[in-house]
Amino acid sequence: MNTVMRTCVSAIALTFGLAVAAQAEDVEVLHWWTSGGEAAALNVLKSDLETQGIGWIDMPVAGGGGEAAMTTLRARVTAGDPPTAVQMLGFDIQDWAAEDALANLDAVATAEGWDAVVPAALQAFSKYDGNWIAAPVNVHSTNWVWASKAVLDQLGLAQPTTWDEFVAAMQAAQDAGFVGLAHGGQAWQEATMFDGVVLSTGGPDFYRQAFIDLDPAALGSDPMVEAFRRMETLRSFVDDNFSGRDWNLASAMVINDEAAFQIMGDWAKGEFLNAGEVPGTDFLCFRLPGSEGSVTFNADQFALFAVEGEAAQAAQAAMASAIMSPSFQSAFNVVKGSVPARTDVPPDAFDACGQQGMIDLAAASAGGTLLGSMAHGHANRAAVKNAIYDVVTAHFNGEYDAATAAQELVAAVEAAM
Ligand code: GAL
Repeated sequence: MNTVMRTCVSAIALTFGLAVAAQAEDVEVLHWWTSGGEAAALNVLKSDLETQGIGWIDMPVAGGGGEAAMTTLRARVTAGDPPTAVQMLGFDIQDWAAEDALANLDAVATAEGWDAVVPAALQAFSKYDGNWIAAPVNVHSTNWVWASKAVLDQLGLAQPTTWDEFVAAMQAAQDAGFVGLAHGGQAWQEATMFDGVVLSTGGPDFYRQAFIDLDPAALGSDPMVEAFRRMETLRSFVDDNFSGRDWNLASAMVINDEAAFQIMGDWAKGEFLNAGEVPGTDFLCFRLPGSEGSVTFNADQFALFAVEGEAAQAAQAAMASAIMSPSFQSAFNVVKGSVPARTDVPPDAFDACGQQGMIDLAAASAGGTLLGSMAHGHANRAAVKNAIYDVVTAHFNGEYDAATAAQELVAAVEAAM
């Protein structure tokens, strides 16, 4: 532990009791929540902090999945000017902690009993060397499908329950002049679909072997070739203008009933809600057929960079405390589309998709099928994640066939490890 961090630890420990009452400073928050639904959720956090006298300096860096935000963060830290609070995912948190860059949150975590209410799968990323170094704000998951109820009704289609039914429904929508699958052609969005497709094709053990254990035999196996074939099938239902489209614009195609489906994490629900849509009435949410029973998760956390000065540290401690309060976790996640990072938040305020998400998360956690999202930095470190992105997106854009893609995957992962 370096001197800055040690100072910080003791200062937070000393000041936490007074933190909420202290004349807290502003917090500068680096994040990538720039879509309509994300901004609405962010406002819940901003307002919550404002009621505690903590001002908000906004540092948005657009780009779903946070790659651009992480590049900006690196530049800020290199310039000796880290933001006070940063939205962060999975292994990135661990990497920054390994660089001794993050504040230690043990004082507030112990005072509030975080250990007892945050699931172990999240603590694996929120703690480093046994110390709390990030406050988890939510749990998202990527193996979801979002559907236009109006399009399905018009075509007389029920919610698909198998992969073949899903393909047939996309085909029927395309034949009728709709876009079968709304998609934004960005590497992280293709990787997000691939999370669910690999899970649905090979099952949870296969997903774990491939993406978490990085077993070359799994990465180059027949089920992986089949997963790439399924990506080709999905590619055939995407419209001509998909390239470079932002994920929320793809969601808008379903919201506007131009497209039948989108495969996307449950942040997409934030867009539907922000547009005034109601689950079950205007849109449907369901697990990618074949992936039911498993959850590929990513949890947004706020990591607080080690700063000097009692007021700044008090503001950080107050922010961490605010994020972890059960009422905030309910209010925020209802809007964001995610589910709470605490296990003790009542489901009452959540809509049908949110309540299903909470049930799925608990069941997957109990059943050993809660799996870190490859696409969102919860299965492996950024270098490996980016290597997988490259292969998945090159294949999606027709650079090579499914069998070659699986071989490329083995080679790319090996080179990145
Ligand atoms: C994810 C993040 C979500 C979401 C999404 C799109 O990585 O965990 O909160 O907003 O990116 O921006």
